[in-house]
Amino acid sequence: MADRFLVVKVGGSLLKSGFPPTLLKDLKSAALNHRLTLVHGGAALVTETAQKMGKEQKFIVSPDGMKSRYTDRETMEVYTMVMAGKINKQVVAFLQSGGVNAIGLSGADGQLLRASRKKKLIILDERGRKVAIEGGYTGKIEEVNPQPLRCLMDLGYMPVVAPIAVDDEFQLLNVDSDRAAAYIAKALKADCLILCTDVEGLILNGALVKRLKLEEARENLPKIGHGMRKKIYAAVEALEGGVREVVVTKGALETPLTSALNHEAGTLIVPQ
Ligand SMILES: Nc1ncnc2c1ncn2[C@@H]1O[C@H](COP(=O)(O)OP(=O)(O)OP(=O)(O)O)[C@@H](O)[C@H]1O
Ligand SMILES: [Mg+2]
Repeated sequence: MADRFLVVKVGGSLLKSGFPPTLLKDLKSAALNHRLTLVHGGAALVTETAQKMGKEQKFIVSPDGMKSRYTDRETMEVYTMVMAGKINKQVVAFLQSGGVNAIGLSGADGQLLRASRKKKLIILDERGRKVAIEGGYTGKIEEVNPQPLRCLMDLGYMPVVAPIAVDDEFQLLNVDSDRAAAYIAKALKADCLILCTDVEGLILNGALVKRLKLEEARENLPKIGHGMRKKIYAAVEALEGGVREVVVTKGALETPLTSALNHEAGTLIVPQ
């Protein structure tokens, strides 16, 4: 059995037009010599579904410039329905249709992702001033239990994880999917984390960045727009936690994972 661990995150940006068939094919190739866990996003579908249900979504920006959904109780219910329900099960069914034996989980299952809930959040208001608001149901991942993933992979299943965590009071919490993938990669001591999205990789000054060192990634964070900034931040966290390399790449390429593993596509982020 393969002894290398690979974590792949599939962005919700990709799932809007359906799971890319080339990515499914390449997951099968990568699974021949890696033990593979998939994490998915789906922010846009959560927003769309909430709005259809008459629940307007609010987004907040932290003092360090990270944008996130403001998750009140009702939003957390919609988030759970969409992430752990619709998206997770559709991804699992699609993988099954291609012969991948996928099993869907959220971070609550087997207490895979334990997080703490912030009672208060400091955000920037419209005029850029810092204000404190109720924390809502957003979590900071504190601990990953990789055991359920290892057991499933040992038995030949591919775990598919929805970005939901559970806290000490067994409350479900919204966690960022890029960062959830990074924490899972750290806990599995993965060789590589691949973040698949709808763009070729990190673009700076109009050009694709092919390789970035950890220190450069940290320095460039303030220059990067919202969706990509989360990924580069997640990459920094993964590398700091011992993951050997992170690739941010387009998921709809002909061979997105093989190309990323061969350093032939996307933005490669490495410790040195
Ligand atoms: N400097 C940058 N380089 C590349 N993309 C950037 C940059 N700044 C902002 N972006 C945006 O980041 C987006 C990708 O992040 P986004 O959160 O939208 O997708 P995702 O993470 O794949 O989906 P989800 O959040 O649902 O999982 C790109 O579509 C692009 O518009
Ligand atoms: Mg995103």
